[in-house]
Amino acid sequence: MTSPFNFTPESYRIKTIEKIELKPRAYREKRIGEVGYNVFMLDIDDIFIDLLTDSGTSAMSDEQWAAMLTTKQAYAGSNSYRLLDRAVKEIFGFEHFVPTHQGRAAEHILFSTIITKEGQYVPNNTHFDTTEANVMYKKGIPMNLPVEEAYQPGKVSDFKGNMDTNKLENFINEKGPENIPVVMLTITNNTVGGQPVSMKNIRKVSEIAHDHKIPMFLDACRFAENAFFIKEREPGYRDKTIREIVKEEFSYADGCTFSGKKEALTNIGGMLCTRDKELYEKFRNLLVVIEGFPTYGGMACRELAAMAVGLHESTDYDYQKARHAQIEFLADSLDKQGVPIVKPAGGHAVYVDGKEFLPHLTPDKFPAQSLTAQLYIESGIRAVELGNSCFGKTGDDGNFIPAKLDLMRLAIPRRRYTISHLAYVADSVVELYEQRDQITGLKRVYAPKLLGHFLSRFEPIPKNI
Ligand code: F0G
Repeated sequence: MTSPFNFTPESYRIKTIEKIELKPRAYREKRIGEVGYNVFMLDIDDIFIDLLTDSGTSAMSDEQWAAMLTTKQAYAGSNSYRLLDRAVKEIFGFEHFVPTHQGRAAEHILFSTIITKEGQYVPNNTHFDTTEANVMYKKGIPMNLPVEEAYQPGKVSDFKGNMDTNKLENFINEKGPENIPVVMLTITNNTVGGQPVSMKNIRKVSEIAHDHKIPMFLDACRFAENAFFIKEREPGYRDKTIREIVKEEFSYADGCTFSGKKEALTNIGGMLCTRDKELYEKFRNLLVVIEGFPTYGGMACRELAAMAVGLHESTDYDYQKARHAQIEFLADSLDKQGVPIVKPAGGHAVYVDGKEFLPHLTPDKFPAQSLTAQLYIESGIRAVELGNSCFGKTGDDGNFIPAKLDLMRLAIPRRRYTISHLAYVADSVVELYEQRDQITGLKRVYAPKLLGHFLSRFEPIPKNI
């Protein structure tokens, strides 16, 4: 049978729904002005389709809800901790872990423990904003060492999330291994478009780090999406299960930071894992001070139970296949109409290239931020800027240093929207593309120093400037 649609159907059906409403255009235009053209400041009821993030926005399964209800709440010795412990051992293969309320708390504990001197370096393929901020908070220096093609949005290549291993080797030799307490590797590489890291690259980064006696940690937020790409694209992995690939990914690492809000399919939660008992004890001691007792960390026990079940669900091949099909549907719909996107599509989002979309705007006019604000006005869709507002810097001379990529991310929450929602998104972005020369840019009028993009404010630049 030939179908005009050729979809891979979602691997679930809907049991509970939440009403959404498209508010009038005039209302949206007024609201975005009130919040300083920063979509983080909008209320959820202002929004029709929310693609701000895939983090903490998953629809949970009946089995997750059931586990939440039946687990017992306890300050110490909860049964959901045992459940999660088993899942970590089975799926990740780490001996020790502490539960945290989300990924950045795991980052905070890791860097607080291992950055022992000001000015130590932390290399990564590319840091996410919270990872970078947590390194800097401990007076470390975050260093991004992605492969060159990570910065070429239109270039189609299988593993654009990789770290450049020559650069890593040179960097370690130049700075000295004693000044590098950890090498991080982020799978998938969110900042450059949710791009995957190959198994070959994970193995090589691990080898280089270990040759210099430096531990290697994964930022494993999207470990199963990364495994799906390895299965689809890397020679030798087609016949392996997602579980087997995941196990191998983690086998090269000494530990990981993990935000459960992504691939544990929960609304909150995180973990910090390690094989090293001594390090674990240090993590645990700090955990008790800032998060909570080791059998609940920063969560209610029911949330640990939901994470344990979710970890099993996200390593299911049929689920991953349907998820990637949704993202490819959106990416293809945009690409066919000429909208400049990061290619190939990422594992959790489609990223629109702000520089290419709005070539008439200079970086200080925040093209991707302007596009994000305009998309909300025109269609009620909330995307997020990952570009000059999020990653741009101010130099010592006070001048603005733009980010390497200026992207608008359309993140796809897990199991939440259907293909028809995504068709509406595609139509809305294409319509905006057709009127792109009308978009005039934004002036930033306020930005706090760390993680400024969450709270920043902008003003529209009038048409004739
Ligand atoms: N690392 C990566 C690669 C991330 O994408 C995130 C969060 C974190 C760490 C921090 O985890 O939010 O649980 O504290 N990313 C979200 C996003 C916020 O929208 O991409 P967290």
